[in-house]
Formats: sequence, structure tokens, C-alpha cells
Amino acid sequence: MSDRLLLVDDDASLLKLLAIRLEAEGFAVLTAASAEQALQVLRNHPVDLVLTDLRMEGASGLELFSQVRHFYPGLPVIIMSAQGTIPEAVSATQMGVFEFLTKPVDKTVLLATIRAALTQSGVTHAEVLEDWREHIVTRSPAMQRILNQVRQVAGADVNVLVTGASGSGKELLARALHEADAQRRGPMVAVNCGALPEQLLESELFGHVKGAFTGAVREHPGLFRAAQGGTLFLDEIGDMPLPVQVKLLRALQERRVRPVGSTTSEAVDVRIISATNRDLEREMREGLFREDLYYRLNVVNFHLPPLAERQEDIPLLVNHFLRGTGAHQSGRVTSFAPAAMDVMIHAPWPGNVRQLQNVVQRTAALSTTPVIAEALVREALAVADQYLPSLNQARLQFEHDYLVKVLRLTSGSVAEAALLAQRNRTDFYKLLKRHNIEPERFKADGQEAGGSP
Ligand SMILES: Nc1ncnc2c1ncn2[C@@H]1O[C@H](COP(=O)(O)OP(=O)(O)OP(=O)(O)O)[C@@H](O)[C@H]1O
Ligand SMILES: [Mg+2]
Repeated sequence: MSDRLLLVDDDASLLKLLAIRLEAEGFAVLTAASAEQALQVLRNHPVDLVLTDLRMEGASGLELFSQVRHFYPGLPVIIMSAQGTIPEAVSATQMGVFEFLTKPVDKTVLLATIRAALTQSGVTHAEVLEDWREHIVTRSPAMQRILNQVRQVAGADVNVLVTGASGSGKELLARALHEADAQRRGPMVAVNCGALPEQLLESELFGHVKGAFTGAVREHPGLFRAAQGGTLFLDEIGDMPLPVQVKLLRALQERRVRPVGSTTSEAVDVRIISATNRDLEREMREGLFREDLYYRLNVVNFHLPPLAERQEDIPLLVNHFLRGTGAHQSGRVTSFAPAAMDVMIHAPWPGNVRQLQNVVQRTAALSTTPVIAEALVREALAVADQYLPSLNQARLQFEHDYLVKVLRLTSGSVAEAALLAQRNRTDFYKLLKRHNIEPERFKADGQEAGGSP
């Protein structure tokens, strides 16, 4: 798909002429007869560049620019004006207008300026409509780079680790990567490595034979085999218990899996995409994640930037999520007030895209007016600010960190650690086991990286 330009001019014939010229150069051109109309268009269409007249009925090109800078940071704006407005031009470029061109604009100069602006903003829409990435809404240069790399590695038989804060879109990216692999013959199968206890996770991944353990009433092929020829998505890989890590490593080395209770192994051909919001390097140092496995999984790493670092995506995402709500589809709610959008663009978003999605859904549902008000958004953000992990999650995280701390203090002596924690030793061992923490790791001498049970 070609780059999209938005042309704004209140002179209808000029607008048409310029649109035809630019279309002839291969650009997709949207037009607006006023600044107000331009903002309307921007709310509903992804645009790569705005080219606007300076003096227009209603708001001027400069006013349009300041709105654009506010709501769509990073979107380049070129302003055209009749001669004699150069002083204004100087202050405008200082404010961040990409370029000021004098009318009548020389075609070569115009094209060169447009190309320069597009290059500088890092936007290239050549791939926007490829199916595999159609669900990923973004115009951020950092995300574009990631998507370009995704396309490159999609066909290569390499394992990929997706990292990024909670709610930043890791699973969405994993699915896109799987879709982008034109050679794939199998499905993508996902498993949350933190959600299952060790034994269950193991038999989930590798399968089991009938009667392998109590409750194994029938044979289970396992997710590796279910993903044959496709992708196995290991979500929350940082939570995988060490013994399972050992078995996973072996399966990856041998490209074979042996179901629990079976004596024979079977060849598997799957790509592993894993994801985590944990700092795996730290986990490795603490002995909670195997280094050898890490290097097997992390052949290519995609790190998703937090939403607050890609503000230019926020208006696009807001409108994308808004269109998905019942309130919008029924026509009850049409849009966000500019001030409301402003608040969202500058919010810190600790919960990233998922949190943004919640705020949009919540405000759309609660709005009593077609245009969602700023106050409602502020309210939703305040609720979201107190946005907490579940008590269980928080407790587990605390417990884990506490255990690590106390073992560090005592250089891995369980007896001393238990004393400090005021627990009896049996209890303390149980806690360590629950968190898959091996006290040996904290012994002062060997920082051994093994971990096989
Ligand atoms: N760029 C995007 N465009 C559209 N939707 C997105 C985008 N990024 C994330 N989302 C949506 O936001 C939600 C959270 O994304 P996802 O589940 O992929 O995040 P995650 O990083 O896996 O989160 P967690 O760490 O909590 O598992 C999903 O509903 C997803 O569809
Ligand atoms: Mg996820």
C-alpha cells in the first residue's frame, strides 16, 4: 500500500488538482476542505503526512498543525502558503512544522519535501494491509521496525522470544509471526507456562501414555505434537518450573519428544515462540532460568516498547477499540472529545495496550453523550491507576522476591533462612518448591547453572 497523504485546502479546485498530481505519483490521497474536516479524517484513517494550506476558512493551517502535533505526535505536517508569510514560517518550523512551502509550489520541491518528511518520520505503509499484520494497529516507527523484522524471520526456522511489559501486545505479535510464515503447515498452539503445576505442564507439553500416572485415563498426544509443522507458543516462559525447563531443552536439542510414561520418542518439527514480561537475564543470574535454554529460545528477540513510548499509536488504538464497542456500533457513542483524547495520549499506561482497551470500553459503555467527555476518561484512568494485580498474583510475587532475598542473605542456607523467616524448615522447603527456587544457587561458592531434578 502506498503512503497516505492528507491534503487540506479550502480552495476546492486547487485541492483537486493537487490530489490528482500526487495520486499520479503513487500516493494515496485523502482530502479535506477545512482544518476541522481534516481532524475528522485523521480520527478515522491512518495517515502518514498532512499537507495543508495556511489560510483557510475557520481554523488555519497552523492551528491544524498544533492539533496534529498534540494528537498525532510524529505525524509530519507540511504547510503551504502564499508569499509574504515568511516570518510566520520561521516560527512554524521552530514549532515543528516539517516544512513551509510557498505557493505556487514547485512540483519537484513538493515531492522531495514529501519524501523527506516520510523518510524522517520512519513511516512506510508498504505492508500495512498484509494479512498477517492486519490486527496490529500502529504507526510507531519502533513498531514498524519490529514488524519488518518479523517478516524477515517468519520464513526462517528460528525460535523467537517476545519480551515486553504486561499488556504490550506480546501474544498478538506472536500470532502475527505465526501467520506471516507462509511455509507453516501446522497450527499455533498456546500454553501458559505459569498456569499449570509442574507435572501437569510436562504432560501437557510432551503428552502421556494411558496410565502414566493417576488420572491419566487416556493417552494425551501433547501440545508439541499438536503443533507439528507449526508454532508452539510458550506464554509466561519465565514461570516455567526448572524441571520442565530441563525437559524442554532436551526436546529442543533432540527435536524429539517422549510422552510421560512412554519408552519411545517421536520426532517433532515446531517453531517455539516464547513470551515473558519478566527479566529473564535476572532470572538466570538468580538460577531460576536455565541459561542454555535461554539461548535456545532467544535466537531472535522482539522487545515491545511500552505504550507510553509510542504515543503516536494512542489515537489510532483508541479509535480502533472504540469501533469495536457495542456503544459505537449502535451509534450511541461516536468519538472522544479532543480533551479526552489528549488525556489518553499523555497518560502513563502502566497496563499498556490492554489497559487502554479497558479504558475505551469502560468509557464507551458509561458515556451518556455521543462524544465521550474528558471527565469520564479521567475517572476511568483513576480507576485504572489503582489497577492492581490479583491478590494471589501479588502475594506470589512478594513471596518469590522475599525468598530470594532471604536466601541471598544467608548464602543459600535453608536452616538460617527459615530462622530469619520464622518458619520451620519443612514449611520453608515447601515454599521453595512452590516457587521452584533451589537454595544451592545461592551458595557462595558455585553459581552452578544446572537444575536437573
Ligand atoms: N498494536 C495493537 N493493535 C491492536 N490491538 C492490540 C495491539 N497491541 C495489543 N493489542 C490488544 O491488547 C490486548 C493485550 O495484548 P496481548 O495479550 O498481546 O498482550 P501481552 O503482552 O501478551 O500481555 P500480558 O503480558 O498481560 O500477557 C489484546 O486484546 C490485544 O489484542
Ligand atoms: Mg500475554
